[in-house]
Amino acid sequence: MKKNVDLSCTYMGLKLKSPLIAGSCGLTNSIEKIKKMESYGVGAVVLKSIFEEQIIAEIGRSVKTIESEYMHPDALDYIKNYTETTSYDAYSTLISDLKKEVSIPIIASINCVSDGDWIDYAKRVQEAGADALELNISILPIDFEMTANELESKYFQIIRHVKNKVTIPIAVKVSPYFSSLGKTLKTFSFYGADALVLFNRLHQPDIDIEKMKVIGAGLERKGTEFYNVLRWMSIMSSHLDCDLSATSGVENGKDVVKQLLAGSDTVQIATVMYKKGIEVIKDILSELSEWMEKHEYKSIDDFKGKLNFKNISDPNVYLRIQFMKHFAGIE
Ligand SMILES: Cc1cc2nc3c(=O)[nH]c(=O)nc-3n(C[C@H](O)[C@H](O)[C@H](O)COP(=O)(O)O)c2cc1C
Repeated sequence: MKKNVDLSCTYMGLKLKSPLIAGSCGLTNSIEKIKKMESYGVGAVVLKSIFEEQIIAEIGRSVKTIESEYMHPDALDYIKNYTETTSYDAYSTLISDLKKEVSIPIIASINCVSDGDWIDYAKRVQEAGADALELNISILPIDFEMTANELESKYFQIIRHVKNKVTIPIAVKVSPYFSSLGKTLKTFSFYGADALVLFNRLHQPDIDIEKMKVIGAGLERKGTEFYNVLRWMSIMSSHLDCDLSATSGVENGKDVVKQLLAGSDTVQIATVMYKKGIEVIKDILSELSEWMEKHEYKSIDDFKGKLNFKNISDPNVYLRIQFMKHFAGIE
């Protein structure tokens, strides 16, 4: 890593050595792996999510209602098994042990779908020593009686309730599937989100046409999520007061630079660590440092948001959603 660039930044008031965060996934559930991530230079780690029992009960109900239509029994077994093998005490212990072993901020993560009793657990996460809490709120809109407003208000209640319970900062990780996305994200911030994580990649179903069964889509499906995040990062960083973190499809240092230029405060990675190993963190940060040096930026703040919606001369480039030769460069 180059010595004459400073990668440090702040995220939700926390001081980070670099804007690269190891996002919540199966690799962020062990002290050994997180120690390695720290040694390679990540600024913070988001722990593998815990599903609060109350929430799991809620998920269990949702799953049951759609089971026959969409779900493969394996998925159901996975969720049930996950609940049984993940205890809250173990999660709290992981946090408090980690705080003794590493000095980077530890962001706990809770997957939730309801404003229920589980919210008390947020306080325990704080007491265990978590520096912040990321709420992964993903409610599948399969209630055909529920309006968009009613559904969104569920998100708002969860954020407000958790915010009242804890004093550590909270980030809210969401999907892009809201009818009026800009307004909804702004309201998340209004209700107390200290940061928004754009956008959660939801587990997707696929079909194995030989075995004639529904399977998980797996890690290979990158799709165009990265670019959708880039678009909304540039727009929201021009309109929001809270911090932002980019997730989905980030694979190298160039991708990190792009999200920072679009206005993100931090950038999260998950799949690329599975594909290339945790060591990829070093390569990504080297590439980021080299780019900064080449362009004579000494700190992240020198270029963060430089190409976001409000800082470019023609912001319409972020608003084009239909292919036209002039803009897309292809017929
Ligand atoms: C195997 C795996 C497990 C994941 N588990 C969680 C999780 O428990 N909680 C969560 O919020 N996100 C989880 N994610 C989502 C990632 O944090 C990330 O937002 C998403 O995969 C998109 O980023 P990527 O393209 O860098 O993987 C998981 C992702 C993977 C690949």
